Amino acid sequence: MYLKDFLLIFRQEYRQVRLIRKIWINDAYKERRMTSRIILNCHSIEKGLSLKKPRPGFGKQKVDNILSLIEEYQRCGYDMNHISIKMAFGVLKEYMIYQQGEGEIDPLQKSEIEKIIPKAYLSNNVKTGGTQRIIKKDIMQNDKKEFEHLITTRHSIRDFLDEEISLEDIKEAVKFALRAPSACNRQPSRVYITDKTQREIMSQYLDGVGGFEASAQNYLIITSDMSAYPLSEKNQWIVSTGIFIGYLSLALHSCGLGACIIQRELYATKVNQSIAKEFNIPEEEQIICVICIGKYPETFNVPISIRYDVEDIIKVLK
Ligand SMILES: Cc1cc2nc3c(=O)[nH]c(=O)nc-3n(C[C@H](O)[C@H](O)[C@H](O)COP(=O)(O)O)c2cc1C
Repeated sequence: MYLKDFLLIFRQEYRQVRLIRKIWINDAYKERRMTSRIILNCHSIEKGLSLKKPRPGFGKQKVDNILSLIEEYQRCGYDMNHISIKMAFGVLKEYMIYQQGEGEIDPLQKSEIEKIIPKAYLSNNVKTGGTQRIIKKDIMQNDKKEFEHLITTRHSIRDFLDEEISLEDIKEAVKFALRAPSACNRQPSRVYITDKTQREIMSQYLDGVGGFEASAQNYLIITSDMSAYPLSEKNQWIVSTGIFIGYLSLALHSCGLGACIIQRELYATKVNQSIAKEFNIPEEEQIICVICIGKYPETFNVPISIRYDVEDIIKVLK
């Protein structure tokens, strides 16, 4: 049994490593890969600019990377309205102004930046990248009681009202969840929303969950885009999408929607492959979980799901 499990895991790992490598070098994934690299480099500059005392002259190499990436991206005819490009324009503009102020701007780099950023963007006040100044008193107005209420009233729901959910409500929750942090802001999470007609198909893939899944109005298939990660960062996408899922669970509840996360195997199993095929999920996205959603009935049962005490899980290191 032990050997069988070992071989299974080995085979799955081997397949996944091959896939990640393929995604990282194959031209078919170039656009996605390039947007991630632009975001990665931009984020590095954003972080530098947000320090209390940015180091004058920092980031020259990263800015060169951004410039050549955008140049190639443009040459390939890719989507110049992508958020990575918006982010880059904002970052490059602020970087240029900062280094100019410090007398550290490389004239050649400055002219390259000015060539790449549209004139209108250079002269307007819109900020799509760079840094923003936060005033403590503006962000300290959160009501702890409200937060406590939100997190303590969220439960995994396994009993849903047979009533349609508006797509707008789901989108609002996803919008909130997009505020989740992700490694280098790569935002790998994707959400596939099934409709009522796909309910039967989907619930058949969730066979064995316990039956309640059939009463869900919609299923959210949560995937994570692996193309943003080199092999050395294997599985990091699961961390970021896991955080996204946590935010989404709370966001759905705040939008009046009950939800239950359904665990999926984190490999391209036959069921996962069938789900991917059925819903046109590209191979560079890994299925992380499925979330059953629906409106709350007037009353319903949930497990107590007792939690550990804080003292049980912390260890104050001395
Ligand atoms: C990653 C993950 C996978 C889960 N998978 C399932 C599942 O397959 N079936 C299910 O009924 N509940 C599933 N749950 C819900 C958990 O059982 C539930 O979150 C836990 O017992 C705590 O209860 P609460 O969510 O009501 O606070 C899952 C939760 C998470 C976070």
